[in-house]
Amino acid sequence: MQTVHDLASLRAALRAWRQQDQRIALVPTMGSLHAGHYALLRRAQQCAPRVVASVFVNPTQFGPNEDYTRYPRTLAQDQAGLAALDCDLLFAPTVEVMYPCGSEDALSIHVPGITEVLEGVHRPGHFDGVATVVAKLFAMVQPDYAVFGEKDWQQLQVVRRLQRDLGMALEIIALPTVREADGLALSSRNQYLDAAQRARAPLIHATLLWMRSAAQQGHNHAVIEHAAAQRLQRAGFAPDYCVIRVADTLRPASGDAPFAQLIALIAARLGSMRLIDNLPFAAS
Ligand code: PAF
Repeated sequence: MQTVHDLASLRAALRAWRQQDQRIALVPTMGSLHAGHYALLRRAQQCAPRVVASVFVNPTQFGPNEDYTRYPRTLAQDQAGLAALDCDLLFAPTVEVMYPCGSEDALSIHVPGITEVLEGVHRPGHFDGVATVVAKLFAMVQPDYAVFGEKDWQQLQVVRRLQRDLGMALEIIALPTVREADGLALSSRNQYLDAAQRARAPLIHATLLWMRSAAQQGHNHAVIEHAAAQRLQRAGFAPDYCVIRVADTLRPASGDAPFAQLIALIAARLGSMRLIDNLPFAAS
């Protein structure tokens, strides 16, 4: 596997493949790779003969009080993991390559509507950073496919909207969340959980399952959301939201919305940790 850090080397590698008419799938990541990322890679390999993984901790999607400087950076380890799985190319650009005009003054893409709820409320500006860096990666790699995890459900909808609105000639592929045996969704930040927090963290998934089951039994969504938040609070979580929404718009569901089009989403703090997870009802 080749690793490139600049655009000239990236373009040279891509040109050779394009000349042979080979399709390309992209797996965008911020590194600190885990089994969830490797599942995305394997899915990308099913889509196209050539797979590019990108590793870039994107400064513009972190708020001023978030963990940009502390975010785990494990490039050598990521490189070894990707090579072992026969990834074709690792694109690991510097901030200067991704933001040649500086990350403060960079062009910024705002996807309206869907970015203004849930995570958008609790992490203002986060999705502008995500949409901007994803659009840059799409422009640089020009993949035929890009693979994203459902763990960041709202991000996935933002990326879909970006692709559709800009008429980008690529297909967005989504992969279900990969979980630990006890239900905890894999995340690069899980390594920050101390033993007591790790023991409590699976309650988020358990609560999502409970919300889905209560909704299936026909209970009122507002009542379910309130009870779910209370259940988390009793266990020491501080929920930012516990909601049932329409999965592709993230708007509140009307009474006659089909069950399979809904999703439950939770974001909750546990000490200094913030965990997010979701459960699309169609997956039941
Ligand atoms: O999901 C992530 O790891 C990041 O938000 C992404 C899509 C790589 C953009 O930086």
